[in-house]
Amino acid sequence: MLDQQTLTALFDVSYGLYIVSSHDGEKLNGQLTNTVFQVTAEPPRMAAAVNKQNLTHEYITKSGCFTISTLAQDAPMTFIGLFGFKSGRTVNKFEKVKYRLCGCGAPLVLDHTVSAFEIKVSQAVDMGSHTLFIGDVVCGHVLNPGKPMTYEYYHSVLKGKTPKNATTFKPS
Ligand SMILES: Cc1cc2nc3c(=O)[nH]c(=O)nc-3n(C[C@H](O)[C@H](O)[C@H](O)COP(=O)(O)O)c2cc1C
Repeated sequence: MLDQQTLTALFDVSYGLYIVSSHDGEKLNGQLTNTVFQVTAEPPRMAAAVNKQNLTHEYITKSGCFTISTLAQDAPMTFIGLFGFKSGRTVNKFEKVKYRLCGCGAPLVLDHTVSAFEIKVSQAVDMGSHTLFIGDVVCGHVLNPGKPMTYEYYHSVLKGKTPKNATTFKPS
C-alpha cells in the first residue's frame, strides 16, 4: 500500500475524461476512461489503459480498433454514470445514446462530447490489471462546440468518484 503523500502526489497528475469504445460484430460498448493520451505526433499515435475485466477490453482485443470520444465539461452525471459505473455485460449503453459508426465499426459518441478519434491498435502492452492499448490515429472528428471535461473538474466541481477498475483508484 502506498503512503498518503504518494497517493496525494499521484492525484496531481492531470487527465481528461473520454469514452473509449469498441465493437464485437454488431455489438457496441464503451467505458469512461481517464487514462488516454497522445504518445507521438509523427505519425499521430494515442494510448488508452483499459482494465482487463471490462467488456470494452474484450471488444478492443477482438476487433483491434477503438474510438476515443472526448467528454464535454457539461456532460450530466447520469451519462457519466452509464459509461463509468455500469458494465456493458449488464446494460446496453448505446441503446439511448446518439452515435455514428466509424470505418472500423466502433461507435463515435455524439452526445455530450466535443470531439472523437478512431484508433487502429498497433501494440497491446500488458500492465498487470490493465492493458495499455497503443494505436495509430486513423482520423479525428470535431463533433460539438464546448470545453473538454478535465479529471480535475470531475473531482472538484462535480464531486465525482472513481471506481475500482480505474487506473487511478484510491481507496478511501
Ligand atoms: C472517472 C472515471 C475514470 C475511469 N477511468 C478508467 C480508466 O482509465 N481505465 C479503465 O479501465 N477504467 C476506468 N474507469 C472504469 C470504467 O469506466 C468502468 O469499469 C466501466 O464500468 C467498464 O465498463 P465495461 O465493462 O462496459 O467496459 C473509470 C471510471 C470513472 C468513473
